[in-house]
Order: sequence, then C-alpha cells, then structure tokens
Amino acid sequence: MAQQVQGVIAPGKNEPVRVETIVIPDPGPGEAVVKVQACGVCHTDLHYKQGGINDDFPFLLGHEAAGIVESVGEGVTDVEPGDFVVLNWRAVCGQCRACLRGRPWYCFDTHNATQRMTLLDGTELSPALGIGAFAEKTLVAAGQCTKVDPEVSPAVAGLLGCGVMAGIGAAINTGQVGRGDSVAVIGCGGVGDAAIAGARLAGAAKIIAVDIDDRKLETAKKMGATHTVNSRSADPVEAIRALTAGNGADVVIEAVGRPETYKQAFYARDLAGTVVLVGVPTPEMQLELPLLDVFGRGGSLKSSWYGDCLPSRDFPMLIDLHQQGRLDLGAFVTETIGLGDIEQAFARMHEGDVLRSVVVF
Ligand code: APR
Repeated sequence: MAQQVQGVIAPGKNEPVRVETIVIPDPGPGEAVVKVQACGVCHTDLHYKQGGINDDFPFLLGHEAAGIVESVGEGVTDVEPGDFVVLNWRAVCGQCRACLRGRPWYCFDTHNATQRMTLLDGTELSPALGIGAFAEKTLVAAGQCTKVDPEVSPAVAGLLGCGVMAGIGAAINTGQVGRGDSVAVIGCGGVGDAAIAGARLAGAAKIIAVDIDDRKLETAKKMGATHTVNSRSADPVEAIRALTAGNGADVVIEAVGRPETYKQAFYARDLAGTVVLVGVPTPEMQLELPLLDVFGRGGSLKSSWYGDCLPSRDFPMLIDLHQQGRLDLGAFVTETIGLGDIEQAFARMHEGDVLRSVVVF
C-alpha cells in the first residue's frame, strides 16, 4: 500500500524549499523503503535547489541519511526490515569493466532509485542523488543501503553518506596517506576537515590546513591539523614548502574546487607527491599550467570520486572507529534541526557558520 509522508521539495529553480506530502509506493523488485532517522544538509542539496545539477524539478532533496529499513521488494537479500542502514548514492552494478577491475567507484551502471515517488497530485519527484531523504520515509535501490552498527547515533551515521566519506576517502583511499606523511589540505569546510581527520587516522605526521577564513582554521586544528595557513595573508605554496623543508607535501588535498586552489595544490606537492582533487569545479572553469611544469613534476594528480569509497567496506569501518573513540564523527554535527528549518540551514551554510546541520526525525 502506498504511504503518505512529509518531505521537503525544491519546486523550481531558486524557489524556496517547502514541506509537502509525498507518496511512497511499495518497494518493487530490488528496492527498499527506509524510515529516515537523520539526514544532513549538504551543498549538493543547495545546488539542486539552484538548478546547478539539472532541471528535473521538482526535487525531493536530502541524501546524507541513515535510517531503518521498513520493507523490501522481491529479490532483496542483502538487507531486511529492521536493519539500521546508511544510504549511499552509488549502488554499483558489480559487472561493468570498472567494477570487475576493482574500481567500482567508476561504475558505469549505478542502480539508484527509480523516480517513483510523487506529490499527491501525481507529479513525479526527482530524488536528490537518487535518494531524497529529507522525508520521513524514502524509496531507494536496496544496493544503496549499507548496514552499520545500530548503536551509533543516526545523525552521525548519515554523514558518511556524502561529504564526510568524500573527505576521509580522499585522504585514505585516493591519497593513500601513509604513516609519517606530510599532508596539506586546501579548503577546510566539511570535506576538507574530513580529509584532515582521514589524514590523522592514517598516521600523517604533519597536517597543514589552508583556508581564507580563520574560523575554519580553528576548527581544522580540532580535526587534527598540526599547522594552519591563512592564504589571504601568506602564499600557501611557499608556506607549505617552508613547513616541509622546502620539498612540498607528500599528499595535497584540494577541497575547494577553484582554478587558483587547483594550481596551489599542483605546486605545493613534493616532486614525487600526490595531488588529490576532491573540490568540484563548475563547467566553465579552466586550469592553465606551463607544460614544462606538468612534465617536470613527478608524482600523480588524482581526482577523488565519493572518496573512492566502497560503502560496504568503508561505512562500517568508519562507524567502528567512531564508536571506539578513534575518529570523532560527532564533531561534524554542528546542529540538529527539523524538516521545516532547511531554508535557514542553507543560509547558515552560505555564511560559513556550520559544518553540518542535520535534520532529525
Ligand atoms: N583558498 C582556501 N580556502 C578557500 C578558498 C581559497 N581560495 N576559497 C574558499 N575556501 C574555503 C572556504 O573558506 C571553506 O572553508 O574552502 C572551504 C569550502 O568549504 P565548504 O564551502 O563548506 O564546502 P565543502 O562542503 O567542504 O565542499 C568543498 O568539495 O566535494 C566538494 O562539492 C564540494 O566543491 C566542494 C568541495
């Protein structure tokens, strides 16, 4: 039987979001209905609202979520009703070339939810990142559900569904930060701070946080930064070199997504170092570099997709580390809010006041 729940939609480009009644059908083959317990407010939700992702309005927003599986459709065996799960936005196929070569984060054929949730008048909703979890319940592909320790707070668990995983994964999966490495992180929002936490977890000896906002640098210290550089008052490339005996960092993680910070990351690495690009640029942005510098510098330049994570491997591991007190995921939750507060949460995000506002149900 289809159910009616409350959810938050973005009705049209730049229009304020609003709470609406959403119709959730029964799960079909391979699908699951999840009772959402918490969902973080991410920049990507704001981009959806602004029409920056695509024009498939209205969107059912929200994608950084955790909750309890309520029912599953035919053929679903990996999760069952009652399981506590974190939702992911890349349910990989397991069969394409990328999956078979052990790089499922590049899967060509992700199986995310079909667009079967509607408004009361039958208008089809586009679930943000195939999830749509600013709602009391949502319909997803069962492969988007990853079981984790049910003892953890849902507000903390849900964060792994996007930004925090992207940052930690940029350090530990893409950057392969190792014990004793020097790491620089350019841009210390939620993603950069998660990269700092990941670098600390991996045993980095020196973690240099770079931002243009002193408040962000203070938070970065709490996440594990050993040094900070305000790039409004110092050249970050020179500062990173000075802090690494003139060499540059072993791993530089860019978590802004702008040409000037891409360039800083390129030049701030050790000649044999790794640059990890996790900040997402806009389509019109260009990067110009002297080819001789590209040729003359070794190491590698990698982009990081969702922290190159394997949800079923990484989500439970990071929750375990949090539960053991070795990774403070709770530090990313600035405030918990209700479904009706999302517009204000976007405003606070814009002001740079919060790492994460999390809707709790
Ligand atoms: N140099 C250094 N830091 C900068 C600069 C700059 N030129 N410009 C902005 N910043 C800092 C901001 O002060 C802020 O602390 O970058 C940080 C960006 O953080 P958020 O806006 O909170 O974004 P976040 O959610 O962390 O995402 C960062 O990663 O996954 C991507 O799409 C995401 O591109 C985005 C990036």
